[in-house]
Amino acid sequence: MTTPPPADAALTPPPGCPAHGLGAGGVRRLYGPEAEADPMGLYEKLRAEHGAVAPVMVHGDLPAWLVLGHRENLDVARTPSRFSRDSRRWHAMQEGKVGAGHPLAPITAWQPLCNFADGQEHERLRGAVTESLARFDRRGIRRYVTRFANQLVDSFAGEGRAELVTRFAEHLPMLVMTQLLGMPEEYGPRLVEAARDMLKGTGTALASNDYVVATLRQLVERKRATPGPDLASWLLGHPARLSDDEVMEHLRLILIAAFETTSNLIANTLRMVLTDRRFRANLAGGHMTLPDALEQVLWDEPPFTTILGRWATGDTELGGQQIKAGDMLLLGLAAGNVDPAIRPDPSVPVHGNRSHLAFGGGPHECPGQDVGRAIADTGIDILLTRLPDLQLAVPEGELHWVSTLMSRHLVELPVEFTPRCPTSAEQDPDAAVAAPAPVAEVPVAWGPAPVPAARAPQQRGRSFLGWLLRR
Ligand code: HEM
Repeated sequence: MTTPPPADAALTPPPGCPAHGLGAGGVRRLYGPEAEADPMGLYEKLRAEHGAVAPVMVHGDLPAWLVLGHRENLDVARTPSRFSRDSRRWHAMQEGKVGAGHPLAPITAWQPLCNFADGQEHERLRGAVTESLARFDRRGIRRYVTRFANQLVDSFAGEGRAELVTRFAEHLPMLVMTQLLGMPEEYGPRLVEAARDMLKGTGTALASNDYVVATLRQLVERKRATPGPDLASWLLGHPARLSDDEVMEHLRLILIAAFETTSNLIANTLRMVLTDRRFRANLAGGHMTLPDALEQVLWDEPPFTTILGRWATGDTELGGQQIKAGDMLLLGLAAGNVDPAIRPDPSVPVHGNRSHLAFGGGPHECPGQDVGRAIADTGIDILLTRLPDLQLAVPEGELHWVSTLMSRHLVELPVEFTPRCPTSAEQDPDAAVAAPAPVAEVPVAWGPAPVPAARAPQQRGRSFLGWLLRR
């Protein structure tokens, strides 16, 4: 006699069905509609089922481990002898399961870059990056941020409404980074558009990538001939003797590493300020400074939710799981930040504690974190100071996010405010920023900047504290 099927059998998805959150063997998928709808909810289910390290499926139903524990994330990040950054160790890669067309190929295909290197080669490449970044004068970086943040605010201040993700949070980091790299200023807006498009993976992403690569290659040639006080020249002149190709590829890595992370941090912090009364009250009451506010967001909504990946160098044990040589592990930065072992109640703010995982850890810990913090902190301060009555233009429930395996990105942050006349364009003839141009119009050669946005007479906003107190 056969056992009758359960009453809800029709609701049970067949194993391996791509529309559902379970892959073969009932292992939860970290991709697809269910995972993307609520990644934090999924991490908590996995933690309840498996503890600090959970088996998961990534794209193509390839098995991997998601590290959920705070301590276990640090163990993995800090022991490259057990958990390598070299994706060529991945058995799925060796078995040809991650070909050029695989969705994870762009982030896992090995390249001669510092983020895929271990040991001495990593030290050589990363040393060039960190020592070149360290040559920037911090006040100089903040001056760039101030200038570009004012320009961006000028471009919409007269309208009384703006969408802050596209018009502020995404633009500011790229404008600053192109300057730090050594791009002639007039080409900044075009490169910003191409780099944003490249990273969004739209239909024109490949063409945009070609444009970015061609532009960076030209930059390297120019800086080889005529060095200046910029990242491209310092990388070229570094004693690690990077080839021109290595310099170009590391400049591209830096643009990519800086863009989405810093724009997510800006957007998430602005969202918190505009929607969370306690957050705002803590800021207004002086219990929290803006830098503290950024750290809180780095705990609660880290710009990278996971990092792909580390690869086990041999059979080992982690969080009670048996990891096999060549297995892939994902650092669960967002999950580790709310590990009950270190934060029993995640709704309680974390004061003065920077031990979150938002910048990773160990030898690959983000070398650009101070630059990212400076861009976000100075930019947000200027925006809120210039537009003191800024408020959300839609109900909070209408905000929505797009999730990928590695990040969760606020799609839009529409705000309204009393229209104000732009200021800095009056004071600085170079100040106006071009309205975003469709990337299809971007030619590969150097060319003049697009037409500046309209300018109007001056009116300065009140102080940031004034903005908070008015709320
Ligand atoms: C808020 C902004 C940022 C966040 C949250 C962030 C986060 C991260 C994380 C999680 C990693 C991977 C660490 C690991 O594998 O353990 C990383 C690596 C990296 N980041 Fe950042 N990042 C930010 C901004 C920047 C900026 C502004 C730059 C450049 C100026 C930068 C350059 C890099 C580079 C070059 C790496 C690779 C380092 C290596 O593998 O040795 N990042 N970042």
